[in-house]
Amino acid sequence: MSKKVLALIVLTAFALALGLAGCGSQQTAEQAKVLKVGMDAAFAPFEFQDDKSKDYTGFDVDLINAIGKQMGYEVKIQNTGFDGLIPALEAGNIDVIISAMTITEERAKKVNFSKPYYKSGLSIVVKSDNNTIKGFKDLEGKQIAVQIGSTGAVEAKKIKDAKIREFNTVPEAFLELKAGGVDAVVNDLPVNDYYIAKSGAKDAKLVGDLLTAEDYGIATTKKNAELAQKIDKALEELKTNGEYAKIFEKWFGKKPQ
Ligand code: ARG
Repeated sequence: MSKKVLALIVLTAFALALGLAGCGSQQTAEQAKVLKVGMDAAFAPFEFQDDKSKDYTGFDVDLINAIGKQMGYEVKIQNTGFDGLIPALEAGNIDVIISAMTITEERAKKVNFSKPYYKSGLSIVVKSDNNTIKGFKDLEGKQIAVQIGSTGAVEAKKIKDAKIREFNTVPEAFLELKAGGVDAVVNDLPVNDYYIAKSGAKDAKLVGDLLTAEDYGIATTKKNAELAQKIDKALEELKTNGEYAKIFEKWFGKKPQ
């Protein structure tokens, strides 16, 4: 073998090794892409902790995991009180909020919202033996439990002479209803439905029509418009490839509206 050929082989091997090393470091940089996701994980079936494993589960959890995967990010969930989510996003402690959060004008002043990903609205839950409250009109002057910082709290406060009791989490509001401390809970319909179906069928019932039409959105900081765009793109792709519909059916037993 001539010296020239040998030198060429050595050089090629060297270049290859360099190239591979390059790929390697690129891969670790990719793997390090983490999406810090905030949610109030006490809002079944959207976000809650599995009784046994304590893992976070629900429609929002599956959806954000699928979005993260689509974007090439690893999703890390941080359980945060609902009224602390937007402050946490503004402080940079989390990158994203997915928490059955309604897109409102007020909130949109502080955060960017993705395209709507779920259609919801508010409804009323009362004890099953309550025959006087049949709709929102009947809530005047009544004691109403809501979650702090929720759209339910905002709407309930508009009801004449009602006494509003604010709880950190929705399960606490339901407990208070069960204990007879309040006359009604005003909260998102799909969560009320799930509560009644899963645990409270004997104790509680749904009354009246939907009070509001609300859309849930995924929130990101105003400082990172690119992230909001990436999330919208991923959401769109999941809608096109059928993954969104699959997750929807898993949690709601029907096809998306
Ligand atoms: N959709 C309502 C809102 O945005 C309630 C959301 C509460 N979410 C939760 N994970 N606790 O105000």
